Amino acid sequence: MTRESESGLPIEPVYGPDALDGWNPGEKLGEPGAYPFTRGVYPTMYTGRPWTMRQYAGFGTATESNARYRQLIAHGTTGLSVAFDLPTQMGHDSDAPIASGEVGKVGVAIDSIDDMRVLFDGIPLDKVSTSMTINAPAALLLLLYQLVGEEQGVPAEKLTGTIQNDVLKEYIARGTYIFPPGPSLRLIADIFKYCRTEIPRWNTISISGYHMAEAGASPAQEIAFTLADGIEYVRTAVAAGMDVDDFAPRLSFFFVARTTILEEVAKFRAARRIWARVMKEEFGAENPKSLMLRFHTQTAGVQLTAQQPEVNLVRVAVQGLAAVLGGTQSLHTNSFDEAIALPTDKSARLALRTQQVLAYETDVTATVDPFAGSYVVEKMTDDVEAAVLELMAKVEDMGGAVSAIERGFQKSEIERSAYRIALETDSAERVVVGVNRFQLDEEEPYEPLRVDPAIEAEQAARLARLRAERDQDAVDTALARLRKAAEGTDNVLYPMKDALRARATVGEVCDALREVWGRYVPSDAF
Ligand code: 3HC
Repeated sequence: MTRESESGLPIEPVYGPDALDGWNPGEKLGEPGAYPFTRGVYPTMYTGRPWTMRQYAGFGTATESNARYRQLIAHGTTGLSVAFDLPTQMGHDSDAPIASGEVGKVGVAIDSIDDMRVLFDGIPLDKVSTSMTINAPAALLLLLYQLVGEEQGVPAEKLTGTIQNDVLKEYIARGTYIFPPGPSLRLIADIFKYCRTEIPRWNTISISGYHMAEAGASPAQEIAFTLADGIEYVRTAVAAGMDVDDFAPRLSFFFVARTTILEEVAKFRAARRIWARVMKEEFGAENPKSLMLRFHTQTAGVQLTAQQPEVNLVRVAVQGLAAVLGGTQSLHTNSFDEAIALPTDKSARLALRTQQVLAYETDVTATVDPFAGSYVVEKMTDDVEAAVLELMAKVEDMGGAVSAIERGFQKSEIERSAYRIALETDSAERVVVGVNRFQLDEEEPYEPLRVDPAIEAEQAARLARLRAERDQDAVDTALARLRKAAEGTDNVLYPMKDALRARATVGEVCDALREVWGRYVPSDAF
């Protein structure tokens, strides 16, 4: 009996040679590390270097998060990944009324260079690559990172890492946008230009499908809407006068890994092939690095259950395997207790150990793209590719990602998928172990980690001291220059860096930009 995949594609009970009739490996696959990169972006992949084990972490104050990063480094993590609290993500200071109750809750509170200095205390920024999950105020956190690097004596050209900086998906899912699409895209183009000159090894954007997947997007929707966002960013940078090979090598992507391994591997392979073709044929990119879809993966948070949380250890291991078989460059494995609360030290360590078992106890790192030539995975790669291209064409017919967003297209498509998943789960047609089958009569108690609410007062006191100590005239002058640049066409990152160095706060810098650009209010046309 033929089953349906998450993208609604057929999965046959048996595949044979006919599944690949007319299938040409030379055209469909290419060599690992070569166009169209179906088999992976590097010739040797994990046989040369394992993926980066990059655990997303951050909560409370910079001091607490710094301790967690040092712990993860001690346990063998090979890349940092900073989670910021919502006030920081939305460009508000910890003592802003709107921040109340959220300070340090879903990530670390960063208000100024003082906090950023504490966050990376004792962590040499020339020795780690750091991802920062920050979007609307991404430029500020990048500059704060550069300023702390300067204080450590690390020149900007040695800094490596990524800012998520993908505001388009915030309009579609997640919601941490500040400015309207126009100024947001201008700011992103300014970041591309600034990094090309000042921080050349920095990945300027992490074009994300993860959050759309977590909101309910199918694998085909996840890839299609993400690549459509990517095309919008490339068009914006080209329209801003950049040559595609000047910035495309530093674009990166971010996807989810679900428990449905076969389709997830097919999804990643299809995504690489589509992006390589788009960059070569639509944008005329010539640098091979411009054609490579390099990506980070996080295991699916929505598939974690609060019931029998230990079962999540198995889900995360399966999801991590899907990401690795799919050729990810960087991976975050969720902690088994994250459906309940912030990870404890032990659950965070277990999540990392899951990756280490995949990397060092299995044989999936012994060979590149092990599913190549598989009847089912090659057929699914073709099928997912076709479904993605069909959706991308619909977005293109609407005028591209921004126009489609303004019409609510992506959001409504994802909501329809989410509704289908909910119905299937409620009817138990979609089995969720421990939730709608194999339940326990009584759940065992679990004591989660809690963030101390007192940190809000602590952050407010730090801000009061900062404002009392700093040179207010220098701050006012720098903010005025920032507003002037935002009104004109000069790159805003230069006056922004001066303001941050003078100890202007995240909220003050974003307020200066809000005064000029306004803030985005979604139409209720979805
Ligand atoms: N052969 C040759 N070279 C190799 C190699 C191989 N097999 N493997 C790696 N390398 C090289 C690479 O070329 C690179 O060198 P370069 O910097 O000079 O180009 C270096 O080794 C590092 O390799 P990668 O760039 O592949 O790996 P990184 O880990 O450094 O970068 C990335 C991966 C995807 C490109 C980058 O953008 C990244 O780290 N992204 C992470 C994003 C992230 O963590 N996001 C978290 C979001 S959390 C969130 O939003 C969810 C929340 O809301 C719930």
